Amino acid sequence: MPQIIGIPKETAAGEKRVATVPEVVEKLVKLGFKVQVQSGAGDAANVSDDMYRTAGAEIIADTATLWAKSDIVFKVRGPSADEVKLLREGGTLISFIWPAQNPDLMQQLAARKATVLAIDALPRVLSRAQKMDALTSQAGVAGYRAVIEAANAFGRFFNGQITAAGKVQPAKIFIAGAGVAGLAAIGTAAGLGAIVRANDTRAEVADQVVSLGGEFVKVDYEEEGSGGGGYAKVMSEGFQKAQREMYAKQAREVDIIITTALIPGKPAPKLITAEMVQSMKPGSVIVDMAAEQGGNCELTEPGKAVVKHGVTIVGYTDLVSRLAKQSSTLYSTNLFRLSEELCKTKDGVINVNMEDDAIRGLTVIKEGAITWPAPPIKMAAPPPAKPAVAMPKAPKHGEASAPASGTSTAITFGVAAVLFWFIGAFAPQEFLGHFTVFVLACFVGYMVVWNVTPALHTPLMSVTNAISSIIAIGALVQVAPPMITGGSDRPELWILGLAVAGIALTTINMFGGFAVTQRMLAMFRK
Ligand code: NAI
Repeated sequence: MPQIIGIPKETAAGEKRVATVPEVVEKLVKLGFKVQVQSGAGDAANVSDDMYRTAGAEIIADTATLWAKSDIVFKVRGPSADEVKLLREGGTLISFIWPAQNPDLMQQLAARKATVLAIDALPRVLSRAQKMDALTSQAGVAGYRAVIEAANAFGRFFNGQITAAGKVQPAKIFIAGAGVAGLAAIGTAAGLGAIVRANDTRAEVADQVVSLGGEFVKVDYEEEGSGGGGYAKVMSEGFQKAQREMYAKQAREVDIIITTALIPGKPAPKLITAEMVQSMKPGSVIVDMAAEQGGNCELTEPGKAVVKHGVTIVGYTDLVSRLAKQSSTLYSTNLFRLSEELCKTKDGVINVNMEDDAIRGLTVIKEGAITWPAPPIKMAAPPPAKPAVAMPKAPKHGEASAPASGTSTAITFGVAAVLFWFIGAFAPQEFLGHFTVFVLACFVGYMVVWNVTPALHTPLMSVTNAISSIIAIGALVQVAPPMITGGSDRPELWILGLAVAGIALTTINMFGGFAVTQRMLAMFRK
């Protein structure tokens, strides 16, 4: 018997998202499930009952009936106490739960003998779990919306313009915290033409900031900010002082600040002080994405947009819900990918396989037993790190400890020089010509590739691939009339055929390669 997935209408105040959209209903039906949606569940996300019906879902008007008939419930927000009572005994629930913050909810759900998969408990370190990562998909939407809110509250253009009425300076935006939301904000703001700067305590994000069109602003203090698993840690007093100085300088210079800094299990770090707000130009904007966790700005009022010292401080806690159609689509796709993992047999029956690392991490309650937190995942041991530079061998007893790297370079050059002399003296004339070209090509190729930023290696590969179509010349020589090539006979028909096919294929390779390169480079341009 296929199981029934039920989609209730979200009940939390201001929540506009819905756990499944019609496109995903179709896919769930193909996986063998029956889908039932509560009437009006998608209204706030611009999805009508009719759209669900057309996609193959049954619409149920009554809330209690929907919960009672569902084997599995898909929700966005964790259930309220009333909703827990509606969950069928022994039923399955998939939604955000935040088990650490909601111990009472966990107890209530366990009492219903439920199986609960908390989408926020997904082990993000598993790369195959990325498709199910609702934290990432929702943070991306929030980062985008934060920029839109900032643009809405800001009285100027984002991009610089030269108009008949005068020159317009581009807006300067500073983004505090370059995690998923911060990076989405950087990309969006840079796309709108603003000058974007960003800072994070984790130095490894600097390249990502730059690749999205931002400038990474460093704190003048050496300290590793990574707390493991891609997350940040609380920084030392010394670092915080140096960071405050840098943030104060940015506050005086920029027009907009978007803060996204969070530390798991801790209140949001206070990064923007009241004095910094005061120092900002009138009409500036702060969007505090950490408002729900206490805010990164001292003057933020969660859930509200307020004006203080002439600066608009946006502390909305429903940024994701403000793009309900987009966030619902991404969230329901995450849940569909999870359903695929739970129902590999495609017969509409889920198997909560606790041997699977991703499923184990997500499952916070199994048939009434609390299974949270999951044991840490044993990742395959990374290959032993290669030393960055060849270490000189320890000198044997009695040996002089001369600088080995200098000696070995001299020896390498010496051996190479002797080899070249040998080749030059004894190799045939024709070989020497080819050999010189070969050596020069190696040298030029090395210099070119070595000086290209790693981010541009993919377009570099496609352009070199296009250039390799130079072999077309060989095929052209084959089809050329004998008087041009200096030969006497026409080539045989099969050689002609092969040469024409060769020309056709290399043409596709050549033009395709250049076209792909152009498209890739366009992604890096502002
Ligand atoms: P988050 O929402 O917990 O934190 C946001 C950002 O704030 C982080 O980048 C953090 O370093 C930064 N931050 C914290 N304290 C700060 C301070 N005092 N000053 C400045 N910045 C501060 O993190 P989020 O966005 O959920 O993910 C963080 C990282 O996790 C990602 O950038 C990524 O590297 C990693 N991740 C890895 C995944 C994977 O391996 N599959 C999937 C998703 C995320």
